[in-house]
Amino acid sequence: MTDKELQELLKKMSLKEKVNQMLQVTGGFFDGHQVAMGPMKEKGFSDENVALAGSVIGSMGAEKLKKIQKEYMENHPHKIPLLFMMDVINGFKTIFPIPLAQGATFEPELSERCAAAAAKEASVSGLHVTFAPMVDLVRDARWGRVMESTGEDPYLNCLFSEAMVKGFQGEDLKEPYHVAACVKHFAGYGAPTAGRDYNTVELSKHTLKEFYLPSYKAGIDAGAAMVMTSFNTIEGIPATGNKWLMRDVLRDEMGFDGVLISDWAAIEEIIYHGYCADRKEAAVRAAKAGVDIDMMTGIYSENMCSLVEEGVISESLIDESVYRILELKNKLGLFENPYKDADEEKEKELILCQEHRNLAREAARKSFVLLKNDSVLPLKKWKNTAVIGPYVDNRNLMGAWSFIGETKDTATLREAMTERGFAQEVTFCQGSPILDPGMKLEGFTETQGQEVSQEECEKMLQEAVKAAKDAETVILAVGEDRLQSGEATSNANIQIPAIQMELVRRVSQVNDKVIVVLFSGRPLDIREISEKAQAVLQVWMPGTEGARAIVDVLTGEYNPTGKLPMSFPYCVGQVPVHYNEYSTGRPHVPGKDKDRFRSKYLDIPNAPLYPFGFGLSYTRFAVSPIELSHETMNKNETIQAVVKVKNVGEVKGTETVQLYIHDVAASVVRPVKELKNFCKVTLEPGEEQTVTFMITEKDLQFLTENDRWESEPGEFEVFVGTDSSVVNCAKFVLVK
Ligand code: BGC
Repeated sequence: MTDKELQELLKKMSLKEKVNQMLQVTGGFFDGHQVAMGPMKEKGFSDENVALAGSVIGSMGAEKLKKIQKEYMENHPHKIPLLFMMDVINGFKTIFPIPLAQGATFEPELSERCAAAAAKEASVSGLHVTFAPMVDLVRDARWGRVMESTGEDPYLNCLFSEAMVKGFQGEDLKEPYHVAACVKHFAGYGAPTAGRDYNTVELSKHTLKEFYLPSYKAGIDAGAAMVMTSFNTIEGIPATGNKWLMRDVLRDEMGFDGVLISDWAAIEEIIYHGYCADRKEAAVRAAKAGVDIDMMTGIYSENMCSLVEEGVISESLIDESVYRILELKNKLGLFENPYKDADEEKEKELILCQEHRNLAREAARKSFVLLKNDSVLPLKKWKNTAVIGPYVDNRNLMGAWSFIGETKDTATLREAMTERGFAQEVTFCQGSPILDPGMKLEGFTETQGQEVSQEECEKMLQEAVKAAKDAETVILAVGEDRLQSGEATSNANIQIPAIQMELVRRVSQVNDKVIVVLFSGRPLDIREISEKAQAVLQVWMPGTEGARAIVDVLTGEYNPTGKLPMSFPYCVGQVPVHYNEYSTGRPHVPGKDKDRFRSKYLDIPNAPLYPFGFGLSYTRFAVSPIELSHETMNKNETIQAVVKVKNVGEVKGTETVQLYIHDVAASVVRPVKELKNFCKVTLEPGEEQTVTFMITEKDLQFLTENDRWESEPGEFEVFVGTDSSVVNCAKFVLVK
């Protein structure tokens, strides 16, 4: 349709039709699983409104969605197609590593490919929009949703945000196999106080703008068709009713002109925040803030017509939102082809195809971070190895948001090792249940936690200790359950379940070659594990091909390259801990621990156990001192920071060389270091390569006291190394 035709269509629509375009309901309303009665009626859903709803959340399958679309359109006065939306986060049926793990690849192009593959599977299954990427900056590992983010660094998050949007959307939404992306959760959802989900967010405007907003902006600049509001408050006002945030910042400053959707029932929740007295007021606040779609409450459809008739809301405000929704339908080509890519044959052909599985394996192995290795990895000899732990036979490797993926499609570690012919040589045993006795967890479609008696637990443990004693090497596959991270999974103690910790202790008492393969959706407190084990491989929630990828790394067939996208704290008392903290007036000086009046703890170090950017390889790399091309630069010049990187180990490997900058004195206090660039180099043993980073004035910009992104003259420190604790430093001056 042309813009003119779209405008004409809008003119023909009744107010009720328009208002209901702004309603999003679950597919259950259309396939007979849900009716607008009982609690649904109380929530404001009526059959009449649902029959005119503009979009559907949470249904999939080409056959089903085509049927819903056909019946809906036959009854719609203007034959306007529905939009089908869903959370396709780290894959549809082929599950890629969780986003936090993808952050560890430091390879946004890879995430672009993963998103494109997920879009392909989702689109043939009838979907038009995914509620991804989640680009919230995260600093607090107690918050279970850190798994959905790519970590604590604004620069890295921007790259991933852009890449994922491009991957989902491609060049043109009309083209086959693309879905619209929805950048979420706007804004600052990743900073809930004390890491408790849905809790208050208390950020200064400066910190919000400089560190939290850029990743949303990057997704918007990449063309994201949608943005989702967040549940939290910003400056004391719930985001979903926050006019300043949505109008001034999102629309005016960031230039977003796509569809803004509320998070699930978030319009209703602004009442519980105590920001609105009733549903009518909530409708007004959200509409005035510019929220176009009301996800899963009847507040808009229930109140908006009368609000317009009473003159509280102008019809032009409704038209603005509805036009944006129609525009998105048009961009997806739905007026010409309401089924878009939905195709049962293509579902069979593309979903879980070998190409997607290969990509999932590549992404998984690139996401693993080798945290410790006392020369026990790679494992050259499998004979006499015991593979122990609740992850030996666990298929739940997909992460909390992958409710579309099926465990039957995921290989277990035992299966992956058996495929490689190691089964004859190794002993497998479970050692412990995954969760502590009595612990039950709820996911979207399943619950976790088996009843295992004390005696059974003891028996499992004894069996594991015996296997460990008899073995030369132990691979201990332990970690959080898949449902211990994700939405509403905040934890005050970020450790593996106690029953598994006991297993680690007992096994390490009888064997001194213990390799821990650690599964988790968040950075954990692994001090004790790290002390007791001779190697620790962090594998996150690695997805459909995760187990095969783990075997690739344990054997050395793939030499680990992952780097932490989020600091692993020394202990939970340090959280939130992130490398890019502000300078203080009493900085901690390493080696001066006795100095009393310093910004430090009495009982623990300031540094995390493993810092951002950290990750080992099976080889070692040496980075030379930095050579700068100039000692000064002006705003139109660039400086080259040059280092030589050498593989000083015995095998071929890849290093991610990282460039950090520190602005020594500025009108606003600066972080002690900020990642500004990185580069991956692959080197043969003994090989050396020159790495040149170009530093431009843009790299020196920040949100100054003028509330503008600009640079300020003065001294800058440049660091180049292999993680954020780098001390290899050179200095230059930016002149006026
Ligand atoms: C989550 C969103 C998600 C939405 C729809 C909410 O609870 O916060 O991230 O997209 O549900 O499933």
